[in-house]
Amino acid sequence: MRLLQYIDSAKAVENRFTRRQIMAEAKKLGGAGLRGQVAGKTALSTVGVSGSGLTYRGYDVKDLAENCEFEEVAYLILKGKLPNQAELDAYKTKLQGLRSLPAELKTVLEQIPKDAHPMDVIRTGCSMLGNLEQEDTSVMGVFPTQEACVDRMLACFPSIICYWYRFSHDGVRIDENTGDSSIGAHFLHMLRGEKPNELHERVMNVSLILYAEHEFNASTFTARVCASTLSDIHSCITGAIGTLRGPLHGGANEAAMDMIEKFSDADHAEQEMMGMLKRKEKIMGFGHAIYTESDPRNAIIKEWAEKLSQDVGDTVLYPVSVRCEEVMWREKKLFCNADFFHASAYFFMGIPTKLFTPIFVMSRLTGWAGHVMEQRADNRIIRPSADYTGEELRPVTPIAERD
Ligand SMILES: CC(C)(COP(=O)(O)OP(=O)(O)OC[C@H]1O[C@@H](n2cnc3c(N)ncnc32)[C@H](O)[C@@H]1OP(=O)(O)O)[C@@H](O)C(=O)NCCC(=O)NCCS
Repeated sequence: MRLLQYIDSAKAVENRFTRRQIMAEAKKLGGAGLRGQVAGKTALSTVGVSGSGLTYRGYDVKDLAENCEFEEVAYLILKGKLPNQAELDAYKTKLQGLRSLPAELKTVLEQIPKDAHPMDVIRTGCSMLGNLEQEDTSVMGVFPTQEACVDRMLACFPSIICYWYRFSHDGVRIDENTGDSSIGAHFLHMLRGEKPNELHERVMNVSLILYAEHEFNASTFTARVCASTLSDIHSCITGAIGTLRGPLHGGANEAAMDMIEKFSDADHAEQEMMGMLKRKEKIMGFGHAIYTESDPRNAIIKEWAEKLSQDVGDTVLYPVSVRCEEVMWREKKLFCNADFFHASAYFFMGIPTKLFTPIFVMSRLTGWAGHVMEQRADNRIIRPSADYTGEELRPVTPIAERD
């Protein structure tokens, strides 16, 4: 039951509950973590609505992953419609022209140590970009350059990640202009120093589509709260990156990888998983705050992980992942979320584990930005209330008399 429905309910009114009692009751009914509470409106996506697992602007994510490139989906999310061929070509050409990093940003990236967390790197990169190429916020509540800022971030986030990674790890200053037309291929090209094959480019497209948008998840909500203060878009996205960094949100694909690569085969995986469950450990890449029976993104990325596994002749990681899935469902009725099979898929493409979550950023930027624009278009500052659990009102004891 939603909190507002409860507060309005006959039971609450008849019993003349105090606000604190109502909040306590709501918490019992599932208020913790704001689960199940509607916090605003969106036309961008539906998550877990019956009959359609995940839709972006009315399109099933499966349909989009099968038939579109990531740039088409980015266009859909940011501009409200799927592009026709001419619009897509023009959009991709425009983004290609925005991939170079300003020299000052490169200087900053070169100062960041090799052992930095890559999510901190992209957070700093985004924030620095906001200093160098500020959004026009000169007239309060009017944002004439927001779309240009988003295009720029979409085009150059992969460059920020790869520039820092290759410089700090290999001592190489990469060329951010690879000539690849898609963001996914461009990223792999900069990372590995060579053009990716068609399979890898396709998987990157699918992966970026699957991660692009997910309603009021924690990082998106962060972006919306920031936008509701009429702050600039780089602040909104920087805050969202910080929120995505946590292991309960975007960091789960990396944690899943760390786990599965320790298992020597499927039986070993089962034995270890049973032990973890017995110890009541949380297993990353499983469960979801909204989906209750499956994550629609899982079947899609799982299929591609299997293809990649065959492509590289893997006989361990994919069977291990499948066994983990079986054990979790059998023992706990917990299912893989989008992150679990992303781990092996990225591994098979030679992507270092520490870059998994920054790829999520390259994609989810579209959803965050879509929500920022939506919030700005119909804004009221987001300011919920808290259920106070502290001391009753009391006077200040003079400092000399305190313990
Ligand atoms: C996604 C997640 C944060 C959702 O959290 P939530 O809606 O608050 O769900 P809960 O944590 O209340 O889980 C309900 C129960 O399932 C268990 N559970 C949920 N996810 C679990 C997991 N991944 N491994 C083991 N047990 C899990 C919880 O311990 C809890 O058990 P309990 O009732 O005995 O305490 C949670 O499932 C999780 O931490 N998953 C792992 C991290 C992850 O993959 N995040 C990416 C999300 S896309």
